[in-house]
Amino acid sequence: MIHKIGLILGSTRPTRISPDIAAWLQQNLAQPDLDVDLIDLAAINLPLLDETEQPSTGIYHEDHTRQWSQLIQGYDGFILLFPQYNWGYPAPLKNALDYLYKEWAHKPVSLVSYGGHGGFQAAQGMNLVVRGLKMQLLTNNLQITLHRADLDEQGHFLDVNQALAPYTFNAHQIGAEFSHALVE
Ligand SMILES: Cc1cc2nc3c(=O)[nH]c(=O)nc-3n(C[C@H](O)[C@H](O)[C@H](O)COP(=O)(O)O)c2cc1C
Repeated sequence: MIHKIGLILGSTRPTRISPDIAAWLQQNLAQPDLDVDLIDLAAINLPLLDETEQPSTGIYHEDHTRQWSQLIQGYDGFILLFPQYNWGYPAPLKNALDYLYKEWAHKPVSLVSYGGHGGFQAAQGMNLVVRGLKMQLLTNNLQITLHRADLDEQGHFLDVNQALAPYTFNAHQIGAEFSHALVE
């Protein structure tokens, strides 16, 4: 059985590097039973949370919330890919998570953060958030340290495959754990 994994790009800047890391992850999860889609928050473009009811009620008034809910309901698990911004996770990612509640609950999730020191403060913060959402945090998460030598003057990868090669095994492990967690 094929399981659907949503790989959420948690950064939305026009010059972001998350698409490079996401494409690399998609290739390196290496599990035949996983179908991994990119979910790009820049394209989905949710406004700042504008619903009147608490998301845990499941009462949604806005079309963009209903569409977001439908999209998220279609996935069996998630990878949250996010950089560290000022010791935290990016606001658009938190906003997108806050829009929904039951849609996230009990689904497996792996956190892939990046930054000067693997984005570990951002990962710690997100660890609490996904617990609050009652998600099932995998054992295999990944913190990618960005090295200046691997980046050009604009902060983009010179060669993403070379820069991320040390993390290939970690990516395989994430894929393997999703497959295991989703076996029925
Ligand atoms: C607003 C902002 C805050 C940042 N804060 C941190 C930080 O606290 N620690 C860190 O290691 N890198 C920090 N950085 C550097 C980012 O890790 C780096 O720019 C990365 O490329 C951002 O991901 P993105 O390109 O997908 O947006 C910050 C970058 C931005 C834009």
